[in-house]
Amino acid sequence: MEQLGLNEVRERFLRFFEGKEHLVLPSFSLVPKSDKSLLLINAGMAPLKPYFTGQEVPPKKRVTTCQKCIRTPDIERVGITARHGTFFEMLGNFSFGDYFKEEAISWAWEFITEDLKLPVDKLWVTIYQDDDEAFDIWHDKIGVPAERIVRMGKEDNFWEIGVGPCGPCSEIYFDRGPDKGCGKEDCAIGCDCDRFVEFWNLVFTQFNKDEEGNYTRLSHPNIDTGMGLERIAAIMQGVDSLFEVDTIRKIMEGVSDIARVQYGQNKKTDISLRVITDHIRGTIFMISDGILPSNEGRGYVLRRLLRRAARHGKLLGIDRPFLSQIADIAIRESHKAYPELKEKRDYILKVIEMEEERFDQTIDQGLSILQTFIEDMDKNNIHQLDGERAFRLYDTYGFPLDLTKEILAEHNMDVDESSFKKEMEIQRERARSARHETNYMGTEDNLYDVIDTDISTAFKGYDVLETKSKVINIIKDNELCEKAEKDDNVILLLDKTPFYGESGGQVGDKGIIKGDNGKIVVEDTQKIYGNRIIHKGKVVEGTISTCEEVTAKVDKNLRMAATRNHTCTHLLHKALREVLGNHVEQSGSFVAPDKLRFDFSHFAPLSDEELAKVEKIVNEKILESMDVETIETSFDDAKHMGATALFGEKYGDIVRVVKIDDFSIELCGGTHLKNTAQAGVFKILGESGVAAGIRRIEAITGMNAYMHMVRLDDILKEMTVELKTSTQDLPKRIDMLIGQIKDKQREIDMLRSKLAINSLDDILKHKKEVNGISYIAVKLDEQDMDGLRKMADVLRDKLGSGIVVLASTQGSKVFFVAAATKDVVKQGIHAGNLIREVAKVAGGGGGGRPDMAQAGGKDPSKVDKALEYVEKILATQLA
Ligand code: ALA
Repeated sequence: MEQLGLNEVRERFLRFFEGKEHLVLPSFSLVPKSDKSLLLINAGMAPLKPYFTGQEVPPKKRVTTCQKCIRTPDIERVGITARHGTFFEMLGNFSFGDYFKEEAISWAWEFITEDLKLPVDKLWVTIYQDDDEAFDIWHDKIGVPAERIVRMGKEDNFWEIGVGPCGPCSEIYFDRGPDKGCGKEDCAIGCDCDRFVEFWNLVFTQFNKDEEGNYTRLSHPNIDTGMGLERIAAIMQGVDSLFEVDTIRKIMEGVSDIARVQYGQNKKTDISLRVITDHIRGTIFMISDGILPSNEGRGYVLRRLLRRAARHGKLLGIDRPFLSQIADIAIRESHKAYPELKEKRDYILKVIEMEEERFDQTIDQGLSILQTFIEDMDKNNIHQLDGERAFRLYDTYGFPLDLTKEILAEHNMDVDESSFKKEMEIQRERARSARHETNYMGTEDNLYDVIDTDISTAFKGYDVLETKSKVINIIKDNELCEKAEKDDNVILLLDKTPFYGESGGQVGDKGIIKGDNGKIVVEDTQKIYGNRIIHKGKVVEGTISTCEEVTAKVDKNLRMAATRNHTCTHLLHKALREVLGNHVEQSGSFVAPDKLRFDFSHFAPLSDEELAKVEKIVNEKILESMDVETIETSFDDAKHMGATALFGEKYGDIVRVVKIDDFSIELCGGTHLKNTAQAGVFKILGESGVAAGIRRIEAITGMNAYMHMVRLDDILKEMTVELKTSTQDLPKRIDMLIGQIKDKQREIDMLRSKLAINSLDDILKHKKEVNGISYIAVKLDEQDMDGLRKMADVLRDKLGSGIVVLASTQGSKVFFVAAATKDVVKQGIHAGNLIREVAKVAGGGGGGRPDMAQAGGKDPSKVDKALEYVEKILATQLA
């Protein structure tokens, strides 16, 4: 048996099936498209479901792929054994109503025995218990001895997910020899030990399962096979687990080097090494497919993987961020087969770095919370942390139980692990019950299932905005009907349409559909599976019936406005790359008639200069009046032309390329201008952040941009009239007015203190005495510290001998000032100490010299009380 690297096995497989006239498709994104039954792609067949059901026509009836997959039923278990990983690649060959069982079995056998040269005497197969046809093929045609063909039940050998296409399957096993097994007498296929490895599943998709649980035979049965790439590579390399496969071992060695621990020496550290290796493999692919760490859905899976990896790094004693270093190795090992990893390398590493950093902060938060738990337990003489609090630390702060235990142990404490586990179970149960059964594509409403799967819509709207069309279906109240009447809300399907159905970020068209007897106002148009375009609207006049001929007319103004925005989105995308760098990738876009929104990867807010530069480039390209060309070609040709493809998008065999002269080239199905000059003008309205590492620009074009400027101009005009000046002189005029206001304010302050000083004589009437010393303690209105000080000076002079304490409030601020004459200072009065005590009453503090001091306070309601306190303090100072 030849030693083959993982990358070679993948290549061999794809070439083998290419030789059997299969179309080799690149792996689809891990993010499912229009399939709500899945969070992440978990099998080679998952992105191909519409081809199995016949909803969509496959580019070829025979297809082969190597699909990236993630399975996360029990993340906690990953790493504990060497057998499980969350990320894996699945090799598969598929037939959509073309070849069936006989070819599927023969080719599988040919590949493993003749191409890979696996020893025949080590191979076993299983079949579904009633599948005699499969038995005959394996036995009579291939020549596998009967005792090596094991019949299994529905649990093991019948493949189905929800309702939809399903069927019996046949699995191929490799016997690694008795020394790898459990040694039990009854050890055989299906045993839980490591001797027999299942590596290839051939599914004969020949039934359709309906909601009632009935199985009906499909007229065109399909083939779906899945071979775990890592498993077959492990077999080819004669190693015990996927973690020892060449490419994966390199990643793990990277972790070993940093942690300075060897694999295979310690059970505990082995778990950590495996967890980090597996999780980082998954995360690089998830991020390259556009997923970002977050607290829900796919983003949460990514966050959990990253945090688990970070946490195991800590368990290995790695005390600095290191995950991006491991990710870099993982990218190197896989980028030949997945070029997107190389293209997005910097971006992937940055996302990982940022998440690791954030986790570090949460860990710190967790630490201080744990500290309060410890203090609390100490106080109450408790030595065991309850499971509920330990779980809260784990769940909310990503705080590993091991770490909690470790820290508690330092205080001679431990965790109630069984109640922790109970909490964990409750959480799992919650997650389980949140997942509910859905159909094959996960859609809950099967609104469009009433439409015949053979029907599709011809889209004419790239070239014309009006067509003569035939009404194919009318859906009213979720049911097909023949005729719709005035005021009915309907969904209409035509044989052809000029209406653009919402897709690729561009909103659907609005307009009118008119027949001989009635009219519909179309409010929205959407593209649904199977290349069908549906019009949602309301009958506003007469009736519309199926089979009648109608005129479908798009609202031209709205369409043109959206089209301007769409072409400018492409200009913006390119301009951003020119100004900020090639790491800028589109992560989302929204193109409507009134505005465009473009989300992209970048790590810092854009400066005003950067925004100005970007805006200028787009406007220059508009003025350069560049031709916009659309070309239909193959995906590979488009890539060769240098077209930017969106990650996570599924492109058919034929793609549409939108080329703006030599400036921009993108794959896009949206509507576009013929020439950039039609956009008129482009204006950025704002820039903001939407998620870690993702920025958003909102902008307008054409008439909207023009109207925006008109509005600004109106505001300016209004201001020039109000301020009695010209536009040019407006800034000067405003400067002058601000200057005037400041002068006036100064004048007001001065007048106010004059007024106050005039009333000082009134204040003197408040003079009191304590132990023969005169003092004044009063509150004044609306004075600031400066004003108070001045007044205290004057009052002190007027008093001749004694001490003055003044207070005032401004909003929530409180000011105190105390001034004493020299003679009383000699007798023991200290203005600084006095004012400190007084201010304390009003929630403040301060102090100063014996003869002059000031202080602030925070509670205006306590000022009177504070002043009442003056007498008492003076008495103590004099005592
Ligand atoms: N769809 C089958 C599996 O995932 C091949 O095992």
